[in-house]
Amino acid sequence: MMTTAAGRWDRLIRNVHLATFTGDQEYGQLRHGAVALVADRIAWVGRETDLPAEFDCDEQIDGQGQWLLPGFIDCHTHLVFAGNRADEFAMRLAGASYEEIARAGGGIASTVAATRAASVDQLVAAARPRLAALMAEGVTGIEVKSGYGLSLEAERQMLLAATQLRDEFGISMQRTFLGAHALPPEYQGDADGYIDYLCLEVLPALAAEGLVDAVDGFCESIAFSPEQIRRVFEAARALDLPVKLHAEQLSNQHGSALVASFDGLSADHLEYLDGDGIAAMANAGTTAVLLPGAYYFLKETKQPPLAQLRQEQVAIALASDANPGSSPIFSLLLMLNLACTLWGMTPAEALAGITRNGAKALGWQGRCGTIEVGKRADLLLWPIDTPAQLAYQVGALRPSQIWIGGELRKDRL
Ligand code: NIG
Ligand code: FE
Repeated sequence: MMTTAAGRWDRLIRNVHLATFTGDQEYGQLRHGAVALVADRIAWVGRETDLPAEFDCDEQIDGQGQWLLPGFIDCHTHLVFAGNRADEFAMRLAGASYEEIARAGGGIASTVAATRAASVDQLVAAARPRLAALMAEGVTGIEVKSGYGLSLEAERQMLLAATQLRDEFGISMQRTFLGAHALPPEYQGDADGYIDYLCLEVLPALAAEGLVDAVDGFCESIAFSPEQIRRVFEAARALDLPVKLHAEQLSNQHGSALVASFDGLSADHLEYLDGDGIAAMANAGTTAVLLPGAYYFLKETKQPPLAQLRQEQVAIALASDANPGSSPIFSLLLMLNLACTLWGMTPAEALAGITRNGAKALGWQGRCGTIEVGKRADLLLWPIDTPAQLAYQVGALRPSQIWIGGELRKDRL
């Protein structure tokens, strides 16, 4: 932890308490700490009293006793889409279920129609305030899925929009191909034909254009079978792309074991996950991404098997699942509160879920998610008394400073 890098530092953030999310302490906390940056990296971490007697540093920042945390990672979002589904919300309040609405041609299909009709510029304009809201709360790394296009051209538009947002906001982004999200109208009755189209045409073309960083699917009775998802994963493997899966959200289809068998990054949702799925994930090191926003918004009552995940030491991440149907919620901080209130996660577990384990869910564990020497200097300064306050308080919480890749960004958000 206390590594002294010889030479010059660009910045030194001092007089802060650190939540490093490393080691055994709760939050990996180190009180009265300091962090030095060189370019976009963390170069020194330790106690203020262990700073070298002499050092050369361009800028010193007084943290005034605030808490310094790693930048937050939202590892599961559907941030790019057109339209909204407020009408379906009303239908659900009147008694219709998410599944009934989907089977009746609403749900994902209605967002697909709106998204197909939008230009890249319109998709970017619609997603811009969503991304700005997440980043204003401290998100410095994000995953963004396609999956509302469901054709080569419309999926490309979504991934181009995501890429444009990544570059405009200077955020770390994993762009995930989610062609196997729903069956588009032109393939009704021919799910296998659609999977062929994805595997043989769409995914190879988009990967060749450099628009895809990972591959996801929706394994569910209202979406695709494990056998169909397996074919998507085989196509991903042939292109050397990592995989993840929407699994066991509405029923147990054994998708988690499937994604684990492909050394998947994560299995996500997981309310209906069973012991075999947990064992497979533990073996493969596949992260469990829990999505309390969708659980809450769909009024789900079956809780994900938190106790068994803990027992098997499966890394647990939390994400917003920001999307127009099941989680129209653009706040990662709210997810902390929901996970603690609804499921009994501890604030420390919840915060690890959007830092260290959020990074792991994206395969980014070597690059960000903790405060450690060599990691990217994605850092948040919070005016709080204890990190638990971030899970406890809803609203009126903002970082006082945000560094992304060593650059102070608060002013630009
Ligand atoms: O993660 N489960 C499937 N996909 C999204 C919902 C998408 C939608 O309803 O538009 C989810 O919950
Ligand atoms: Fe999702």
